[in-house]
This record gives sequence, C-alpha cells and structure tokens, in this order.
Amino acid sequence: MSNIMARRTYFMKKTMTSVPFTETPEQKAKLDAIIDNLKEQPGCLMPIMQQAQDVYGYLPLEVQKHIALRLEIPVSEVYGVATFYSQFLLNPKGSCPVAVCLGTACYVKGSGDLMEKLESILGIKNGGITADKKFSLDATRCIGACGLAPVLTVGEDVYGRLTVDDIPGIIAKY
Ligand code: FES
Repeated sequence: MSNIMARRTYFMKKTMTSVPFTETPEQKAKLDAIIDNLKEQPGCLMPIMQQAQDVYGYLPLEVQKHIALRLEIPVSEVYGVATFYSQFLLNPKGSCPVAVCLGTACYVKGSGDLMEKLESILGIKNGGITADKKFSLDATRCIGACGLAPVLTVGEDVYGRLTVDDIPGIIAKY
C-alpha cells in the first residue's frame, strides 16, 4: 500500500468498539429527554447524535439503536451518519487518549511510523482502546503545531520532533 493510501486508511477506518456497553439510569434518562426535546424538528438526527455523544462520551451501537427506534428510522441511517462524520466517535476514549497527527507536515516527517509503533506497544489499532481503558489511540489531522512535526498528544500534553525511539518513554510516563 502506498504511503498516501495508508494515511487515508487511518482516517477512513472507523470500527465499532469491543468495549462492553454500560450506561447509568441518568444517562438513559438524559438521552430520552434529548430525543423528546428534538425529535419533532426537521434535521434532528445530527443534533440528537451530538448531544447523545456528550452524554456517553462516544456513540455506542446500543445508543444508535435506541435513537433509531425512537425516531422510527433504520439503524443503518444512524450508523451511516456516525461513520461518515469524523466528529462522531464509535469508540470510548481512554483516561490517557493518545492522538497522532497525520497531517501532511507530520506525516512526511514520519508520524505514520509513530502510529505503527504505538499500535505495537499498546496492542491496539487506530481507533481502539486498551482493555484497562487507560489508553485510546487515534489519528488526527493537523493540530497547528507543524513546527514541532512530527507531533502526538496524550491528553493535554503535546510531544514534538519525535522519533519512534521516543515512544516507549512517553507511554511509560502514564
Ligand atoms: S501537520 Fe501535524 S501539527 Fe500540523
């Protein structure tokens, strides 16, 4: 696969999480209140999905199914929107969310290699989360720190001018 294709694949690949779904009664009540509030408005699907994501932190399939049921639309319609728009997350974030910039400046300086190293160390793929829910891993577009390329972030911490040899030390800090 060419480098460009590989980068595109990182951005396009959206897979459902394997983390078991759990919800609190409060989350369920909030979701129903959001749907009740918006469901009569034209074009309500995306606002409902955005607010549902605020409640759960991501959009689990179970939540997508509930939205579809309540709006009386096929779940495939909800899933199609969730997978098309990058703002919607199909996977929960870890307590230490790792994001690798695959913007052009970072990518030409080797951020694809950083991503591969992280996948190997953490044992998860782009978009995944570790079993203990500590680390999640995502590709991002340019975060505006091109002068530090290649860049990754762990939560609010920014790391720049990296090589693959820096990755184990960064992960060990958390
Ligand atoms: S391309 Fe990575 S910070 Fe701009």
